[in-house]
Amino acid sequence: MQKVRTDNQGRSATRRGANQVQPLRVPNKKNTVEDTVVGRLGSALDALGTKVFLADRDLNVIFMNKKARQVMESLNGVLQSKFGITAAQLGGTNIDHFHGSRVADIRRRLSDDKNLPIRSEIRLGDLILDLNVNAVSDEVGNFTAIAVNWEEIAEKKRLEFEASRAQSMLENAPINVIMADRDFVIRYLNPASLKTLKSIEHLLPVRADQILGQSIDIFHKKSRSSAQDAGRPEQSAAHRQHQARC
Ligand code: HEM
Ligand code: HEM
Repeated sequence: MQKVRTDNQGRSATRRGANQVQPLRVPNKKNTVEDTVVGRLGSALDALGTKVFLADRDLNVIFMNKKARQVMESLNGVLQSKFGITAAQLGGTNIDHFHGSRVADIRRRLSDDKNLPIRSEIRLGDLILDLNVNAVSDEVGNFTAIAVNWEEIAEKKRLEFEASRAQSMLENAPINVIMADRDFVIRYLNPASLKTLKSIEHLLPVRADQILGQSIDIFHKKSRSSAQDAGRPEQSAAHRQHQARC
């Protein structure tokens, strides 16, 4: 277990040396920030799958859980090129170091727990991080430390982007597209479909703008069997024809 020297207010007095990948741990002292926050929660936080960082009120990093250390290790290249620091040197470092031109603004916001929590998306190298910053208080409610956890959401963002691109292609497509879910409930109609259905509204059991959310059965005389057919690949030729008619 690694110890950190602290001053008499319990602040980190050291910046950690080059080979220290270990989390910062509790000094052998009562009632310091590290005692209250890290001492009790350190191993529990290590067990979490999420990345957790703790900074003291002076904004020195006083703890990183196991997952955070692993991720920072994997980002060593980015840390070195962007901030001139290795993952091993993160513990004890003041977070101002990472906040570039926004240091003053971020410091001001983190100085008062009334401004917390903060939720934001930040970029670190190729990563997009969903950042979650919370105040940590002691038993009597004093604001003693700041906890950050973040999740990598670049892949989620990419999928969201693809879904929205597909959606926009459908929205703008000149062909009629209707989608039903596996229970045959209509979940999507593109604008071209709505327009077509509007033009034959007098032939339909409901108004065009009421179709979303309806079962496809309302359109079929032998309703249940048509719906069941829709689940059968061998019916696809017939289905294509019917689509062409609709
Ligand atoms: C407990 C530790 C930390 C705290 C409390 C903290 C807090 C914050 C806050 C409040 C923001 C502003 C979010 C916004 O409004 O957009 C921010 C941005 C940022 N942080 Fe941290 N941070 C911590 C550690 C780190 C570390 C270890 C790194 C890098 C290794 C880092 C990199 C960044 C970057 C790149 C930004 C975006 C800055 C920009 O927009 O120019 N932070 N952080
Ligand atoms: C995703 C939505 C829909 C699906 C999966 C679906 C599926 C089917 C299937 C599998 C058939 C049987 C085809 C055959 O055996 O010839 C059918 C028939 C038919 N569908 Fe749909 N349908 C949908 C939406 C609609 C809509 C919106 C309308 C009306 C505008 C419609 C009108 C009809 C008609 C009139 C028939 C012929 C019914 C009959 O012969 O009794 N369908 N549909």
